Amino acid sequence: MNRRTFIKRMISSGLLLIGLSSGSYYYAKHIEPKRLHIQYETIASPKIPQAFNQFRIIQFSDTHIGFHYTTEQFSQLIKNINQLHPDLIVFTGDFVDRPHQFHWNNELKELLKSLEAPHGKYWIYGNHDHGGYGTDILKNFMETADFHLLQNSHTRISVKQEEIILAGIDDAILGKPDIDGTLKSVDSNLFTILLAHEPDLAKFVKHYPVDVQLSGHSHGGQVRLPFFGHLYTPIYAKKYTIGRYQVTDDFTLFVNRGIGTTRLPFRFLCTPEIHVYQLEHKAI
Ligand SMILES: [Fe+2]
Repeated sequence: MNRRTFIKRMISSGLLLIGLSSGSYYYAKHIEPKRLHIQYETIASPKIPQAFNQFRIIQFSDTHIGFHYTTEQFSQLIKNINQLHPDLIVFTGDFVDRPHQFHWNNELKELLKSLEAPHGKYWIYGNHDHGGYGTDILKNFMETADFHLLQNSHTRISVKQEEIILAGIDDAILGKPDIDGTLKSVDSNLFTILLAHEPDLAKFVKHYPVDVQLSGHSHGGQVRLPFFGHLYTPIYAKKYTIGRYQVTDDFTLFVNRGIGTTRLPFRFLCTPEIHVYQLEHKAI
């Protein structure tokens, strides 16, 4: 879809919302974007070591702070995540909407830093993080908030001397994703979770020894209509747009709807969400 078609679709979806009623418009602009859905998922596999039973991973994504999403709202999100006592936290890209125009401040850094997870906090680049010369700004900011960058790299997460792999690839639109390089030295016997901002990369990732891919980017479409679904999703979020997909027998993709909004400040039937994944060892 080219830019012109995109703008036409977004304008028509905006007008459609207005047409639905001023109540729906108000709801989509002022109420739903401030709500939060917690999506619980169980991930069970014989490859998950027993030591990881009940291990809890929280994913948040696409906060787009600065575009109709405030530091105050972010502060509430941090409280919500900490109350869920995650073992590990992952952020899957698009932290602020426009890094070069954003007023970076200590309050935001302290908030991000206050997220607690005993097995670490990891993040990957989204297209908005690289966009507008944001690459280095984001790298430094996330580092000072104790978030470890996975950019075509992986790490081992250990519990009682048992291990799983957490890998992350660079953004597909403005970065240089390298699935081969990310996974070439990974032991395929180890349960592997891959972070990739764009969900449609799953069509390439399925050929690698990855068990689970966690993505964002789609925002679930932001505006969804009953019986119709989303009106628009961005490039690389055309095939996989929302929720859980069993891509192959042994490869599952989760697409998180994100927290903030971009381009238009609406959410309708597409509440902001975080994912809570609970790992379970499954006997063969
Ligand atoms: Fe985004």
